[in-house]
Amino acid sequence: LGSDHPIPVPNRVADRRTDDPESVRCRPGHFANTPDTDLSVDGNRLWGNEITARVAGSVLGEELVARHTVDSPDQVDRLIEETTAAGAPWREMSGARRALVLRSAAVELERRRGDLLEVMAAECGKTLDQADPEVSEAIDFVNYYALLAEGLDVVDGAIAEPVRLTVVTPPWNFPVAIPTGSTVAALAAGSPVIIKPAPQARRCGSVMVQALWDAGVPREVLRLVHTDEGAAGARLVSHPGVDRLILTGAFATAETFRSMRPDLPLLAETSGKNAIVVTPHADLDLAVKDLVASAFGHAGQKCSAASLGILVGSVANSRRFRDQLVDAVSSLTVGYPDDPTAQMGPVIEPASGKLLSALTTLEPGEQWLVEPRRLDDSGRLWSPGVKTGVARGSQFHLTEYFGPVLGLMAASDLDEAIAMQNDVDYGLTAGVHSLDRDELSTWVNRVEAGNLYINRGITGAVVRRQPFGGWKRSAVGAGTKAGGPNYLVGLTNWRRIPAAE
Ligand code: SER
Repeated sequence: LGSDHPIPVPNRVADRRTDDPESVRCRPGHFANTPDTDLSVDGNRLWGNEITARVAGSVLGEELVARHTVDSPDQVDRLIEETTAAGAPWREMSGARRALVLRSAAVELERRRGDLLEVMAAECGKTLDQADPEVSEAIDFVNYYALLAEGLDVVDGAIAEPVRLTVVTPPWNFPVAIPTGSTVAALAAGSPVIIKPAPQARRCGSVMVQALWDAGVPREVLRLVHTDEGAAGARLVSHPGVDRLILTGAFATAETFRSMRPDLPLLAETSGKNAIVVTPHADLDLAVKDLVASAFGHAGQKCSAASLGILVGSVANSRRFRDQLVDAVSSLTVGYPDDPTAQMGPVIEPASGKLLSALTTLEPGEQWLVEPRRLDDSGRLWSPGVKTGVARGSQFHLTEYFGPVLGLMAASDLDEAIAMQNDVDYGLTAGVHSLDRDELSTWVNRVEAGNLYINRGITGAVVRRQPFGGWKRSAVGAGTKAGGPNYLVGLTNWRRIPAAE
């Protein structure tokens, strides 16, 4: 390129599309996620009462054909009826045609990478090192489910019949990858979708949905709604016209949804309490690195995060291991994502309840190896903590906290370590660090979890290579794995027409 041809600037945080009404400014001080904060764009409020007023009386107000705040069960009923009716052409399309549209969505998401990084930082406190791979994961989901859609129409002589309607209720901790994956899976399977982003991540959901609309997914087929828990939200997940519900969230939420409509096929990825076992045959340097990354990435707010390190035999007393862990944890820089040096960001809400207690108190036998500190008045910014001496059967051993605190347990041998790993009610991710083949095969055969990782971190499952989903209370319902070859099967009805004799 000659000097008068400017080199294109990569689409990054600073590169914000100004013509996009959903685009928002990310500036210091804008990390509070209460629904009333930073909700205006160019002087217009986007969410809340004003927009509700604009759509009141006509859920399908002209200009807001597919983006609503719904307040009443009646509005939800109408939305469901309209989306189901409008979904007919999408349902009748071949999987290959749907795949074509979805492949364009991958391009649209890439084009909006900068917007997505910005809203993930602003709403959910995601640092760039966490947010950037998340956009890539969303794109991987789109391409992979498009590929599956191409082969979906007839499998083993059975016809995949798209369902009438899928409702998607994603979480705030992966506010782009999970909503994209769930939504695109249902669309790829031929179902119209109503998505209700988590209240903490509405703009993330909006930018993602806009990308899908721009790719050619009809607005009438993919509806974006914002509603809080309450009668309207309850109606959305229990209406008899909903054929599938995809939830990623707490086990208790899945149980609540299931009790509202026990006959509704639910695909729920739920909680985790995950551990990495470190044996005396491990590369201890690598184990420290992977423990720290798995425990404190996104401030520990991943269902896949390592909340426990189970140290076998001599590792529990290894001074070298302990000193390296303390050094690694203490040297993490903590800050809001507008600080480019921040390696760990804030927690989503001011720490309270069980998380606050895990960050500030010790159970009998426990000691702080690194004591967490509250870094500002918001209650959201904490330095990472490590406690040692966590007892088998203690609250810390068995409870999911979703925050930046790691507990260390001592096991006399690998058998005891595996038993401690399996004691928990959940079975999502599990890790082991050992260079001994016999130890690894014992561990692989006995550990009760859906995603097993050997000599590496336990977060960041790669679409297609590492289909994601757990056992026990980490999955409710169909339990097929996201990003895996069977995921779309659970989102369709199958019809077999027997061949003539
Ligand atoms: N899929 C994510 C991970 O593997 C969690 O949702 O970390």
